[in-house]
Amino acid sequence: MTDSTFTPRVFSGIKPSGGLTLGNYLGAIKRWVDMQDGETETIYCAVDLHAITVWQDPTGLKAGTREIAAGMLASGIDPEKSILFNQSQVPEHTQLAWIFNCVARLGWMNRMTQFKDKAGKNAEKASLGLYAYPSLMAADILLYHATHVPVGEDQKQHVELTRDIANKFNNDFGVDFFPVTEPVIEGPGTRVMNLRDGTKKMSKSGESDMERINMLDDADTIAKKFKKAKTDPDGIPETLDGLNGRPEAKNLVDIYSGLADMTAEAVVAEYAGAGWGKFKPALAELAVAKLAPISDEMKRLMDDPAEIDRKLARGAERAREIATPILEKTYDIVGLLR
Ligand code: TYM
Repeated sequence: MTDSTFTPRVFSGIKPSGGLTLGNYLGAIKRWVDMQDGETETIYCAVDLHAITVWQDPTGLKAGTREIAAGMLASGIDPEKSILFNQSQVPEHTQLAWIFNCVARLGWMNRMTQFKDKAGKNAEKASLGLYAYPSLMAADILLYHATHVPVGEDQKQHVELTRDIANKFNNDFGVDFFPVTEPVIEGPGTRVMNLRDGTKKMSKSGESDMERINMLDDADTIAKKFKKAKTDPDGIPETLDGLNGRPEAKNLVDIYSGLADMTAEAVVAEYAGAGWGKFKPALAELAVAKLAPISDEMKRLMDDPAEIDRKLARGAERAREIATPILEKTYDIVGLLR
C-alpha cells in the first residue's frame, strides 16, 4: 500500500445485473477475500443502484442482489472481517454522487469507453443514469475515503475518473479532503476473456451462455464449456512468449493460473508441449474443484433470504457509521446550510 495521509481502506463493488461469472470471481471477489485478512479495513458492496442504469425487473433485482451477496459470502467474504452491504441501503452514496455530478466535467464523462460500449449506436435512448454512472462510482469509493480499489482491468478508467474528481474537488475547495485512490489491478485474473472470442471480455451480458462460466454452472456444464472453448491448432508452448498473439490460448492459461494460484509461467512449464485434449480436461477439473464448493454454498445461502437480508442490513449500518461523517463534512466544505 502506498504512503498517504489517509488510513488505507479498501472498497469495491459488483452490480447485481445477471449472475456472477468466473470473471467476477477471478477479477474481483477472490482477490477481495485475500485482502480482508490484512490490517486494512475492507468494504464490499452489491451496487444495486448501478444495476438500474439499465432496465431491471424489480423482483429479479432483489433476487440478484441476494445472489451477489451469497456469492461473496460463499467465496469467503466474512461479514465480521469486512463490511458487506447493498448500496441502496446507504443513501449517502447518492447524496455524494450529486455533488460529484457538479464536480465532474462533461468532457470527462464523454471519454468513458464503457458508456460508449453499453449505449452503443443508440446513445440517445440510454438513461441519464448510465451516463452519470461513473460519478456514482466515484461517490461509492470516496464516501469511505477508500485508498485502494481492487477491480478488473475493465474498471480502470472509472477509477481514474474517481481520481480526477477527488483532485478537482480538493483543488476547487482548497482542501485535502478526498484521497486520490489507487486502482489495484493485479494477478492473472484481471481480464478474463470470452471463451468463444479471446479478444472480448467475459461478461454476464454476452449473447451466448457458452462464452462464459457462471458461478452457478454445474460440473458437466463447466466441462462442456471448456471443451468447446475456442483455441488454435498449437497446444501449450514451451515458454510464455509462445502465447503472444494467441488470445484464446493465453486466456485458458490465465484462467488456470488464477484458479490454481500459480503463475502463468508455472502453468506453461507444467503443461509445456501438451495439446488441448490434455489441458482442457485438466482445466475443467480444476475449475470444478474450486467452484463447486462455492456454488453449493451459494445455493444453501440463497435458501434463506432472510438471513442474507439481515447480514446486508447489519453491513449497511456499519457502512453508514463511516459514511455519515464524511458526507456531513463534504456538505460543510461545499457550503450547504443545514
Ligand atoms: P461489474 O459488476 O461489471 O464487475 C464487478 C467486478 O468484476 C470485475 N470483472 C472482471 N474481471 C476480470 N475479467 C472479467 N471478464 C471481468 N468481468 C467483471 C470488474 O472489473 C469488477 O471489479 N462499475 C463496477 C461496479 C462498481 C464499483 C464501484 C467497483 C460500482 N461502484 C466502486 C469498484 C468500486 C461494475 O460494473 O463492475
